[in-house]
Amino acid sequence: MNESPSREQIGFLVFSASLRKGSFNTRLAALAAEVIEANGGDVDRGSMAEFDCPSYNADVQDRDGFPTGAHELRRRLERCDGFVISSPEYNASMPGLLKNAIDWVSRFDPQPFNERYGLLLSASPSMVGGNRGLWALRVPFEHLGAQIYPDMFSLAQAHHAFESDGQLADERLQDRFNMNIVNFMDSAEANKHYPCVKRAWVEYLGEHPEPIIDRVQ
Ligand SMILES: Cc1cc2nc3c(=O)[nH]c(=O)nc-3n(C[C@H](O)[C@H](O)[C@H](O)COP(=O)(O)O)c2cc1C
Repeated sequence: MNESPSREQIGFLVFSASLRKGSFNTRLAALAAEVIEANGGDVDRGSMAEFDCPSYNADVQDRDGFPTGAHELRRRLERCDGFVISSPEYNASMPGLLKNAIDWVSRFDPQPFNERYGLLLSASPSMVGGNRGLWALRVPFEHLGAQIYPDMFSLAQAHHAFESDGQLADERLQDRFNMNIVNFMDSAEANKHYPCVKRAWVEYLGEHPEPIIDRVQ
């Protein structure tokens, strides 16, 4: 794994959207947390059991307020810069319990997914690794203003993919996973700590633009 001691402070809530004991997604989330920490990030390890909510009902919300799981997910999101979710694919989409938790949390004001950095992972015994579910999951997050990293990692044949120490058995796949995580962290770190990078003239260092194409303000 790459060591990156010079990274500016950045923190992520990492959790799996499976409640299942022995979940492949929980194993992948644990691996993601390890890689983030090895590369200088802070991790809050969450679990879906902490965020699970009864089915959304606006009457219940009006009468009783938010359930414990929604409060907890909001609290944990607000302490972090971003989140990493490893989600199972159910019927080519996201699991209902995850969408339900997102729906509850989306009713808070301010809405805590807005402007948070997100990375989506999936694991499945299938050959596509649950990737279709992640495309479905992007939709509510994009709608809620989360900045979802373009690359998503889907672990195919997850029942054969892990070593007993939690690493991926295929070394090249492990490298690709590490790279995906580190690239996401770089992007989140740059957005958090260097927000002027696109406005200042550092994008084309060494270039001497003519006035007509000079975009410096
Ligand atoms: C209701 C249901 C629907 C599923 N649909 C899909 C699917 O569309 N694609 C897929 O790859 N696996 C599907 N699976 C299999 C899951 O990927 C598999 O159970 C996986 O291990 C669940 O993730 P977990 O190990 O993290 O709990 C489905 C499983 C269930 C229970």
